[in-house]
Amino acid sequence: MSRLGTESAFEVLARARALEAQGREIIHLEIGEPDFETPAHIVEAGVKALQDGYTHYGPTPGLPELRQAVARNSREVRGIDTNWEQVVVTPGAKPIMFYVIMALAEAGVEVIYPNPGFPIYESMIEFCGAKAVPMRLLEDRAYHPDLTQLPGMVNERTRLLIVNSPENPCGSAFTADELETIANVVRSHPDMYVMSDEIYKDILYSGEHHSIAALPGMAERTIILDGFSKSYAMTGWRLGYGIMPEELVPHVSRLATNSVSCAASFSQIAGVAALDGPQDAVQEMAAEFGRRRRLIADGLASIPGINCPEPEGAFYAFPSIRDTGLSSADFEERAMQEAGVALLSGAAFGEFGEGYVRLSYANSQENISRALESLDAMVRGL
Ligand SMILES: Cc1ncc(COP(=O)(O)O)c(C=O)c1O
Repeated sequence: MSRLGTESAFEVLARARALEAQGREIIHLEIGEPDFETPAHIVEAGVKALQDGYTHYGPTPGLPELRQAVARNSREVRGIDTNWEQVVVTPGAKPIMFYVIMALAEAGVEVIYPNPGFPIYESMIEFCGAKAVPMRLLEDRAYHPDLTQLPGMVNERTRLLIVNSPENPCGSAFTADELETIANVVRSHPDMYVMSDEIYKDILYSGEHHSIAALPGMAERTIILDGFSKSYAMTGWRLGYGIMPEELVPHVSRLATNSVSCAASFSQIAGVAALDGPQDAVQEMAAEFGRRRRLIADGLASIPGINCPEPEGAFYAFPSIRDTGLSSADFEERAMQEAGVALLSGAAFGEFGEGYVRLSYANSQENISRALESLDAMVRGL
């Protein structure tokens, strides 16, 4: 158990709530959750599903109607010839991460993962006894990795490479050329899989989303992780999925049977409405995130000692705070206590996150502006 990490967003949120209970005003830029309501037609489909009796257990890998909708959607948006039986539905997409790493990682095996990156990757790799090999994302490359290093990181023990694009916490997104470079390395190692975490694919500020699974020979090596939390503001519905090579489906399903049994049936029917219905709300949310990105990137740039590469996707800014002289943990603490802003220490996203903090701009433009003013005053007063 001592090898298992955590996600600090939930801890910082609890500390912020405790201060609020004492009457302090805190602006929440810590949690990675869209601040929009789930679109009405999806809520209506969920309510109708409850009334229609979708209140029971369903098949472990998901209701066929949702698995088929996911396969259809993946063919449309990624151009991948997906068979619906390759889809496993889970309560949120996080269990896909848990199950896939548990299925493939063990002592003697190596897993390459992005660092700074979503903390659960490293946590799970180490929990399973495998060696976690960081793929460093570099500030001076706008948080893209130096892929010339990748061939030297892979060996006969490498079982899995994790890519996350658009990325949490850095906000970077791989180009088609970068994915091709990664695919070339993977193709030359027959025992290696890729887990492609595409949960932020709909929040991209320029260009199109590319999935590594769409490249020649890669669908049979790739587990796509995606879900409904971020694209459709459905974090509390707990609905996500993996699209994986058929040989992994029985293993991942058995892990699901041993843990959650299945995702909530009414949530799955709402998921069908989300995928098959109008996508205007998704585009409107992405456009609003785009406006907030401008606001936060410009605001951070004007604070002395702070440098922030422009986010390319997702809804996180990951500025360097090194020149303020504070550690990431001190910056997190002082931002909460002195500026009334809840944000996360970059060190919570891996060793290469020290010297940085993460701000989630899933909050109104008004609150973001107020948070920037308070942080500016705090830093100038150091
Ligand atoms: C990179 C990344 N992957 C996956 C998830 C999982 O989201 P959920 O379990 O809500 O679908 C998150 C949530 O914060 C995330 O940031």
